[in-house]
Amino acid sequence: MTADPTTQTLAQLGDATPEKVAARFAEVRARFDEQAAEHSAKKDAEEWKSFVVAWTGRKSGALTNIGDNWLKPAPKELKPTVGQELNKLKAHVEATLEEKRKEIEAASEEAAAARDQVDLSLPGVERAIGTRHIIRQTFDELLRIFLSIGFSVVEGPEIETPYYNFEALNIPEHHPARDNMDTFYIEGPPDGRAGSSAAADKRATAGKYLLRTHTSPMQIRTMEKQAPPVRIVVPGKVYRRDNPDSTHGYMFHQIEGLAVDTDITFCDFKGTVEYFVREFLGPKAKTRLRPSYFPFTEPSAEVDATCHVCGGTGCRVCKFSGWIELFGAGMVNPAVYGFVKYDPEKLSGFAFGMGVDRLAMMKYGITELPLLFQNDVRFLRQFP
Ligand code: DAH
Repeated sequence: MTADPTTQTLAQLGDATPEKVAARFAEVRARFDEQAAEHSAKKDAEEWKSFVVAWTGRKSGALTNIGDNWLKPAPKELKPTVGQELNKLKAHVEATLEEKRKEIEAASEEAAAARDQVDLSLPGVERAIGTRHIIRQTFDELLRIFLSIGFSVVEGPEIETPYYNFEALNIPEHHPARDNMDTFYIEGPPDGRAGSSAAADKRATAGKYLLRTHTSPMQIRTMEKQAPPVRIVVPGKVYRRDNPDSTHGYMFHQIEGLAVDTDITFCDFKGTVEYFVREFLGPKAKTRLRPSYFPFTEPSAEVDATCHVCGGTGCRVCKFSGWIELFGAGMVNPAVYGFVKYDPEKLSGFAFGMGVDRLAMMKYGITELPLLFQNDVRFLRQFP
């Protein structure tokens, strides 16, 4: 390429007439247009910058050079032509650069937007969604049945006082019923901070706490706080000092039930239990009440249902008896009302306490209790 004409004077270039000057400007303009056309959004920002500087830079841009080298030293008679041509060129260069700048900016904005766009047609990232644990599912199923007949759900503390866990349920200190419920005693916070009223804490064995062995303490806590009628179910964890085997663990789940009102009879109790059994095991299931003993109910019963596997004809699951034991229950012992200042002359009710793990194992044919808590997905996946 020949040396840049803008760094030489017109005299050096040999342009001495207005025509030649105009032709020289036309040549520069063509060169500018050619270079400008090469700049598009695809060129990088640095190249664009140096192109702009090469033409409009104050120190040695082409326009400055033309002013310095062509206009200033031009002979008088050529000056107007050079001046006019330079102004035209300047206007052209500036307008073109401005237009290009807008073009490039818009294009790069578009490109950025395209980069950020989410392609909705791509397959998504699939994360395995967990399912409700079989125990949770059983809880929900059991609670649904009681909610459907007007019970409401309450929950209570797992750390209890012996007063609520035993005494107020008519299980005094040396009562043999405590034996099979022996539990974990723990050191608790000082009296008054166990989550119950200060007066109730005082009645508790001084400073002693235990992990509740059943959900029955919530019978007492509820009746202490609430005037009759009471119709509650209490889901929760309970603890016992049992040796772990295929049907025992140190922790399991229960649902307690309590209904107290002015005119609740044994018929209401039986009707409720039968409704529950049919809902849980199917319309064909029959119910049987067997005499039993619990200190907080009188009379007490074990609720049995016809075996869900053989329908009552006898099989391995029901040990050929045709019946399966479901849970303990009974009419609330009037002695219990004395602990919560309910009038035993006016009130009556029934209560029940069911082992959720037991019911789940029975219904779904699970033979090993530990499987429920080992979190082995091969087991859990069977209960989607
Ligand atoms: N609390 C008893 C237990 O854990 C179960 C029970 C039996 C609860 C009879 C009751 C009931 O409310 O009436 O062994």
